[in-house]
Amino acid sequence: MSQGKDTVQRTIIIAAALSLVCSVIVSVAAVQLRPIQDKNKALDKKKNILMAASLYEEGAQVDEVFKQYVVPKLLNLADGSYVEGQDPNEYDQYKEAKNPSERLVLDPKVDVAGLRMIARYAVVYEVKKEGELDQVVVPIHGKGLWSTLYGFVSVDSDGNTIKGLGYYDHGETPGLGGEVDNPKWKASWNGKKINDNSGQLQIEVIKGQVDLAREDAQYQVDGLSGATITARGVSYMVQFWLGENGFKQYFDRIKKNS
Ligand SMILES: Cc1cc2nc3c(=O)[nH]c(=O)nc-3n(C[C@H](O)[C@H](O)[C@H](O)COP(=O)(O)O)c2cc1C
Repeated sequence: MSQGKDTVQRTIIIAAALSLVCSVIVSVAAVQLRPIQDKNKALDKKKNILMAASLYEEGAQVDEVFKQYVVPKLLNLADGSYVEGQDPNEYDQYKEAKNPSERLVLDPKVDVAGLRMIARYAVVYEVKKEGELDQVVVPIHGKGLWSTLYGFVSVDSDGNTIKGLGYYDHGETPGLGGEVDNPKWKASWNGKKINDNSGQLQIEVIKGQVDLAREDAQYQVDGLSGATITARGVSYMVQFWLGENGFKQYFDRIKKNS
């Protein structure tokens, strides 16, 4: 082979051509895979909604079960009324929280979860059984130690009893804050009451273990050992979203109707 072919110019041209080919392959793959990724994301969200409502079983056809039991509704958080004429499936409350004409800037006095801004509307998922409202699954989000946690809480049609809680996205440490995904801890939310008889918000994640002999055990969930900051974040976000500035008006409305 002649040495004259190994010039700097040739090396640069080959490296540039190779990078161009690789970037075209990566771009084409990214564009072609996006619809599949979006579909899987939507399916995962549905699965998490079903899990919060205790309607998911391993291997179940998520789309089928969802269609059978769940009706998405768009809500105006200000009064808990339905927003008509807008498709709930097209509404992204996390995107709208950044849109100046669609967001609400929270008064720091009520912003216990440190959210600063939220969308005016939220999508809730009404679960019907034999035509009757059984429970509603509402979205929650808020800060932990390292990340914002995104999840769902399911509340009975009495508007006051939690039936399930779960997160589908967070970046907390596995084994510490990541214990929010522990099935036993998640199950411990089932049956907890949000407000006391006078309507005062009481639900909280405490530090340590709940003393089941105490009357207020009905409003309390065990803390996460070694992860007090994440647990406190969960407590604050649940209090915000299930309270006056979250879904309280809506819960009061379904309670009256049920
Ligand atoms: C590497 C590392 C990761 C941690 N991850 C978390 C976490 O995800 N959530 C959390 O609340 N605390 C986490 N902590 C611990 C916090 O820094 C803090 O010590 C803890 O929240 C206090 O909880 P405790 O009072 O239950 O010990 C982590 C600590 C280290 C060193």
